[in-house]
Amino acid sequence: MKLVRLRDAARPRIGLTLDGQAIEAQQGDTLLTALLAAEAGHLRDSEFGDGHRAGFCLMGACQDCWVAVEGMGRVRACATLAAQGMEVRRG
Ligand code: FES
Repeated sequence: MKLVRLRDAARPRIGLTLDGQAIEAQQGDTLLTALLAAEAGHLRDSEFGDGHRAGFCLMGACQDCWVAVEGMGRVRACATLAAQGMEVRRG
């Protein structure tokens, strides 16, 4: 399910890629917010076959949201700010 923004819609837009596809985020978004608000709308599939994952703690504690960022390695999506030009991979 895609995250729907209800506030702060006027913040400047930035562009990045998610698994090679261009997505748009807003300045100040974490990577997790950017991923969930993108068309894909989820972080990854569950290892247990019960649907999609969207992070768990959302505060850098549980390690449920690892993604790979070109030039940065593995980062927690909920604790990393999205930046213009980032290349993010979920798998
Ligand atoms: S959702 Fe828990 S560390 Fe990111």
